[in-house]
Amino acid sequence: MSFIITGASGRMGQSLVKILSSKNLPVIELSRKSDLEELSASSKSVIIDFSSPEYFDKILDWSIANKVPFVSGTTGLTDKQFEKLKTASSDIPVLWAPNMSLGVAFVNKLLKSYSEIAKDFDFQIEEFHHRHKVDSPSGTGIFLQETLKKAVNKEVPEVLSVRGGGIYGVHKIWAMSEEETISLEHQALNRDVFASGAIKCALWLSSQSAGQYNIEHVIAG
Ligand SMILES: NC(=O)c1ccc[n+]([C@@H]2O[C@H](COP(=O)([O-])OP(=O)(O)OC[C@H]3O[C@@H](n4cnc5c(N)ncnc54)[C@H](OP(=O)(O)O)[C@@H]3O)[C@@H](O)[C@H]2O)c1
Repeated sequence: MSFIITGASGRMGQSLVKILSSKNLPVIELSRKSDLEELSASSKSVIIDFSSPEYFDKILDWSIANKVPFVSGTTGLTDKQFEKLKTASSDIPVLWAPNMSLGVAFVNKLLKSYSEIAKDFDFQIEEFHHRHKVDSPSGTGIFLQETLKKAVNKEVPEVLSVRGGGIYGVHKIWAMSEEETISLEHQALNRDVFASGAIKCALWLSSQSAGQYNIEHVIAG
């Protein structure tokens, strides 16, 4: 298996390269200067993309043309890009997740049970990230908000975003009634949690047929 890493010089890229190299797994590092026309794929290649919405289309096109499974954690994508991902899934296996951690997948699952308290509580999601994060609200915030809205079947105020310092990612979901509050909080303690999750997804995806998958499919095995 060879792992083709986009944005290899970036924060996530560096974490992926470090983990893959420590396991002696073959890595191809792509940078802004890499020429995709010169990149050749083997039947055992898989893409792991943590780059930017600007680069996403290019690398997805390359994956489709070369029939290479495609894992992406890039956030800030447009509706058109999500459509493109869906279309690609008729040719190759694709998996996109705004948060590659097991913990967030579990929090997302728990949120579905908030249907039971919907009538008596108000809800609010807050998210905190490092000062370099480009998109706001975070992809994870948007993802959790969609689950929450479906579960409680009512409008929920916009996700509140805080940017500062080196925070890897904190997501907090408040439920508030007249008499009590519940806060469900996930904190990423390092960046490797996302990189390890993405590697797990890539290994799993490489043995799937064409289709669109999410992290819950990986957890379910
Ligand atoms: N799903 C998750 O679990 C998760 C977790 C963390 C982050 N993310 C997301 O992953 C993405 C990357 O995050 P990061 O913190 O690693 O960002 P980062 O440190 O800014 O790294 C981005 C990388 O992508 C490259 N890049 C950006 N635009 C490019 C372009 N047009 N062409 C070629 N290369 C380009 C950058 O190259 P240069 O250095 O040359 O600019 C850099 O290597 C963001 O969308 C972030 O929100 C997702």
